[in-house]
Amino acid sequence: MAILSFNTKVHFGHGERAQLVNELRLNNIKRPLFVTDAGVKTAGVFAQAIESLGAIPGAVVFDQTPPNPTEDAVEACTATYHANQCDGIVGIGGGASLDLAKAVAVLCGQSAPLWEYCNRHPQPRPITKAPPVILMPTTSGTGSEVGRSAVIIFRNGIKAGIGCPTVVKAAICDPDLTIKLPPMMTAASGMDALAHCVETFCSPAINPPSDAIAMDGLKRLFMNIERAYEDGTDLHARWNMMMGALEGAICFQKGLGAVHSVSHALGALGYHHGTLNAIMLPHVLRVNAPHISDKMTTMATVLRMPADADIPTVFARLNERLGLPEGLSDLGIDPAIFTAIAKAALADNAHKTNPYALTEADYIKLLNAAL
Ligand SMILES: [Fe+2]
Repeated sequence: MAILSFNTKVHFGHGERAQLVNELRLNNIKRPLFVTDAGVKTAGVFAQAIESLGAIPGAVVFDQTPPNPTEDAVEACTATYHANQCDGIVGIGGGASLDLAKAVAVLCGQSAPLWEYCNRHPQPRPITKAPPVILMPTTSGTGSEVGRSAVIIFRNGIKAGIGCPTVVKAAICDPDLTIKLPPMMTAASGMDALAHCVETFCSPAINPPSDAIAMDGLKRLFMNIERAYEDGTDLHARWNMMMGALEGAICFQKGLGAVHSVSHALGALGYHHGTLNAIMLPHVLRVNAPHISDKMTTMATVLRMPADADIPTVFARLNERLGLPEGLSDLGIDPAIFTAIAKAALADNAHKTNPYALTEADYIKLLNAAL
């Protein structure tokens, strides 16, 4: 067991969005840059998130976060920060807005290109002079509010993380902000969170506290995802989904696996992260199963199923009930790209902590099975 650290201060609960006013004061932020996306704003969720601040004439809002944050978007948002002489960042939205907010904080105090801070760079630069960041998730998925990196699509075509574990000064997790999340996004982002818990638990790294958190998160997500999907106003389900997503991201410092190495590779082309994870999860578990039979038994027990339950099939059936796409071809993905995707997956950090070391040929076979 190498390092175990849980970095982020978290406010959690219905109505906790009211803490924003206190956190701005505690972090001495007088002119925040709000980072969000157009959908969150149009749905009224942005206004709901900042209601504790009252009227803010001249609020600086960047609402052009793309579905997958890019280096271009980070630079555009950083320019907005500087042009308006902001002194802190508040990210409000799904994982894209939260990751963008973190990456902007990294770039604000630096002059080197963003790639030089990426964890895939041979010698990532240290992050200095980053302004304080406060994050308010409006989905229950990535857990970016407590994750230790910002995942960005760089201009070189690589989708990878920038390690920035200290930039977030507070996460404010209010399940009320997820009530308007549409069913399909509830399902896809929820399956991302569920994949975090499963892949973390299956990772061969030794970290029992992370394992315990992963299994608690898995139980909450599995027991509540269909309730939240069917009735978005189910507050009990929304609370548990948000807690499961938080737990998934707290624990995945132990390492993810081939679900995420593939979804990062395909995600660089613009496909939705959670949807890719939902599709890949049963297939990856099926090839991993011979290497993690004891963990499969534990997961079956956690899910209150017979010890010999076929866990990959359990998650495939769950995808069906949630109306998620069955295969990669449903997203229009062409198998002609599988060799390139396999190479990109091999280079991804999540590949290193899959229960066994897939080869390029294994990845191509896996992708074809998931087609
Ligand atoms: Fe993920």
